[in-house]
Amino acid sequence: MAKYRIGLGVSGGIAAYKAVEVLRLLQKAGCDVSVAMTRHATEFVQPLTFRALTDKHVIVDDYDPANPDPIAHINFSQNIDLLLIVPATANIIAKFANGVADDFLSSTYLATTAPVMIAPAMNTTMWEQPATQRNVERLKQDGVYFVEPVAGELACKTVGTGKLEDVENIVAQAMRLLTAETQRRGENGIESSQRLGVSAVQNDLANEKVLITVGGTREAIDPVRFISNHSSGKMGFAVAEAAAARGASVTVVAGETKVAPPENVKAVRAVSAKEMHDAVMAELPNATVFVGAAAVADYAPANAADAKIKKDGRDTMTLELEKTPDILADVSKNRHNGLIVVGFAAETNNVVEYARLKMAKKGLDIVVANDITKEGAGFNTDTNIATILTNGSEDELPLMSKRDLADRLLDQIVKLRNDGK
Ligand code: CTP
Repeated sequence: MAKYRIGLGVSGGIAAYKAVEVLRLLQKAGCDVSVAMTRHATEFVQPLTFRALTDKHVIVDDYDPANPDPIAHINFSQNIDLLLIVPATANIIAKFANGVADDFLSSTYLATTAPVMIAPAMNTTMWEQPATQRNVERLKQDGVYFVEPVAGELACKTVGTGKLEDVENIVAQAMRLLTAETQRRGENGIESSQRLGVSAVQNDLANEKVLITVGGTREAIDPVRFISNHSSGKMGFAVAEAAAARGASVTVVAGETKVAPPENVKAVRAVSAKEMHDAVMAELPNATVFVGAAAVADYAPANAADAKIKKDGRDTMTLELEKTPDILADVSKNRHNGLIVVGFAAETNNVVEYARLKMAKKGLDIVVANDITKEGAGFNTDTNIATILTNGSEDELPLMSKRDLADRLLDQIVKLRNDGK
């Protein structure tokens, strides 16, 4: 018996020929594949190619009298473990996002309860259009999984984002999703498949050991007083929770937090910047990803008093502060091969510009930049508004929960890893 049943949907772009390779790789991985094509896809590749390889009728139009199954869109959609669209045009994405069902493939999308994975390919301008990005965002919210297009030279001879991800990677991601889905169904005793949220279906960090700093530090003035900040730890713990849910083994080095660490993570407590620095350095050799999400005090009292400081009639008092170790910069400086280093940049103005400077100065792979003056962003909220920066990309995200932002950050980490980092 086949390991998994895949409905492979092919829509009309030049990358349609790559769907043939995807089909072959899926078959090699032990899958039983049925193919559905849009009318335009058949302009690029003949249905006969897929029929010869699958030994099954390839459905383009379910009203076609040659179609052996009179209710094909129902039968096709209900007998698959995954609907995989390769390539997906802007048009098919728009139809899926809006519930338009005017051909076989779009009707299948509406009629299936299987997870859906979409690998888009299109011209950069079409990909970057707000309309397309809105549709992609909406589908992600509906639980559709995306294999994001990559940057490269496109068929139209321009260079930019929009190229279909490597077929091997598409198949690898599809197989990972199916394995995770089977596991999840087994654990929950769910009989029939159902469309899932992105975070629930991935197991794509199974090989990663993620080390995260969380919360605020406390810098002692004397045994009863300290300097600190408003950090709640919510963002760092959201990253920890999301990474653990995606199969990573996670260690958090946590300062002062207003919420408890999630389950399934190792928690190490650290009070001051110095303690956090030492705890991180001790854990670092085991990590493959470092995320600096803590609000670490930049300065600490140079000479903390051993006993409570008395007023002694003074009207003013001066505290001498000295710089604390920059944990993130030190991690980056001492990084071992393959370590991905992520920092946060909380700013109040020129957000992206300052975040890029921080990225260069500290040698980071990814920076999550946010304007803490915006409503819904920053300390102590459950939401954030951020821009995720990498060396070649800038992803300005709308207001979303810290947990969703964590998943978006982890998507970038997976992408970097897949790109060979
Ligand atoms: N960070 C750190 N150790 C420090 C200070 C900051 O690990 N001693 C990390 C934070 O966890 C965050 C990033 O560095 O990921 C950015 O922190 P931020 O305080 O915003 O930046 P600074 O580099 O301190 O720059 P500035 O305060 O001048 O904006």
